[in-house]
Amino acid sequence: MSEATKKRVAVLISGRGSNMASLIEAAKEPGYPAEIVVVGSNRPDAAGLEAAKEAGLQTFAIDHKEFGKDRAAFDSALSAELKKHDVELVVLAGFMRLLTPGFTEEWEGRLINIHPALLPSFPGLNTHARALETGVKLHGATAHFVTSEMDVGPIIMQGAVPVLDDDSEQTLAARVLEVEHQIYPEALALVAAERTEINGMRVTVVGSDDLDDDLIAPTV
Ligand code: GRF
Repeated sequence: MSEATKKRVAVLISGRGSNMASLIEAAKEPGYPAEIVVVGSNRPDAAGLEAAKEAGLQTFAIDHKEFGKDRAAFDSALSAELKKHDVELVVLAGFMRLLTPGFTEEWEGRLINIHPALLPSFPGLNTHARALETGVKLHGATAHFVTSEMDVGPIIMQGAVPVLDDDSEQTLAARVLEVEHQIYPEALALVAAERTEINGMRVTVVGSDDLDDDLIAPTV
């Protein structure tokens, strides 16, 4: 696939950036329909920014602390920076900031997130601890479009893992993270190739598969 037809993607992170790394890896495939043009963070010290630089990517940091309680002003600065890079799709990968409706509406249909739970179960934080507390036998990860309500948007892809009797929060988190790294690049590929259609809360995969089959595996 030529660079010109690939969607220009920004990845936003707040921390270590392991999901970002899985997206960078996937995007190295010549047939992958998205190109990561920039990695941004609300935390100048995010470890993932260094990893992105080492991978040869452009990066930026907009420190949310400089905006105090003014979330809208932070979001406007973020949006302006994304536009400077001619970004077409925004991918949240461990980006730990609530976004205002102004931002989510501006980027609606072009903004996706990975959440470490099988939504609509366990929106918000501490998903693995809550999965253990409530005794669910299946847990997992969800790639979804972002709307103004946190962790509620239309689901693109999910992957499930068993919860084992001797699981700790850490062992469960590690099992879920593997699934995140698998489904997020696949979900982004579907969106970038314009193969997702949103009808209310349902996302259907449309169109013939002119992509390499290896890039788009069925939901695990
Ligand atoms: C991931 O579990 C992601 O689902 C959640 O935060 C974590 C970020 O991890 N929102 P990383 O920075 O991608 O390694």
